[in-house]
Amino acid sequence: MKKLEGKIALVTGASRGIGRAIALRLAQEGAMVAVHYASNAELADVVVQQIRRSGGDAFAVGADLLEQDGIHQLFSGMDAALTVRTGGDQFDILVNNAGRGQYRTIEDITSESLDEVLDLHVKAPILIIQQALPRLREGGSIINLSSAVTRIALPNVLGYSVSKGAVNTFTHVLAQHLGARGIRVNALLPGIVETDMNADTLGTAEGREFAAGLSAFGRWGQPEEIAAMAAFLASPDSRWVTGQLLDASGGSRL
Ligand SMILES: NC(=O)c1ccc[n+]([C@@H]2O[C@H](COP(=O)([O-])OP(=O)(O)OC[C@H]3O[C@@H](n4cnc5c(N)ncnc54)[C@H](OP(=O)(O)O)[C@@H]3O)[C@@H](O)[C@H]2O)c1
Repeated sequence: MKKLEGKIALVTGASRGIGRAIALRLAQEGAMVAVHYASNAELADVVVQQIRRSGGDAFAVGADLLEQDGIHQLFSGMDAALTVRTGGDQFDILVNNAGRGQYRTIEDITSESLDEVLDLHVKAPILIIQQALPRLREGGSIINLSSAVTRIALPNVLGYSVSKGAVNTFTHVLAQHLGARGIRVNALLPGIVETDMNADTLGTAEGREFAAGLSAFGRWGQPEEIAAMAAFLASPDSRWVTGQLLDASGGSRL
């Protein structure tokens, strides 16, 4: 039997990059997957079709998490699709992955740019977890995408780093709070991964040298490598793991 057979997962930001790889991997392990996207409906549909072609089940849910009613839209979409498939709104795995890069130092940060990263990386996942709680079954797993920049000081991503620091904090606090319900809460802290977020960095020889030089392995990461760790955190193999910040950076700046 597959490790996630009978489980249902919601992966935010699953149209591209790390979220897409996580959605595909969780489906491969047997989970039904809600593939969330903000504006790339066509890309989300490609992920859904890929999962269905491999014999799995998936559906897409669109919601811009920076919009006022984004969270409401996300859960109305989830509830409607799940009711058709299962007759209820319950699910098991929540991956808070949706995010955006932001290059700003203390000199050029603005009130608006800070609002954007904090709203998307802190406020949205907290409110998503709040809405997920009545719907999450016992034994559920919440996985939050943080970043190795919470450990490695990169002055040109100040607001982004601060927002991911908050992800580490709510992961820690909520693991304590939700342990009584048998719900685990962990975070993954990737280093540089080859996705659209790093297209500019990996688009120059200088950027590639910087990215490869961070890791003990002398290269940058691939989305599938983060997805493998998410699959572990989603599965019963990690049933004794909660409140942990798992480095997923290929040993960056050890
Ligand atoms: N790549 C890295 O090196 C790296 C390193 C550390 C941590 N991370 C974290 O890992 C996560 C995924 O990063 P990635 O590199 O895979 O990103 P990506 O390839 O740029 O994909 C971003 C995803 O987030 C969604 N998204 C963006 N803005 C949104 C909004 N306002 N509302 C809802 N969804 C939104 C996008 O949806 P659309 O396609 O519809 O726009 C897309 O699915 C992020 O939380 C990121 O901070 C990434």
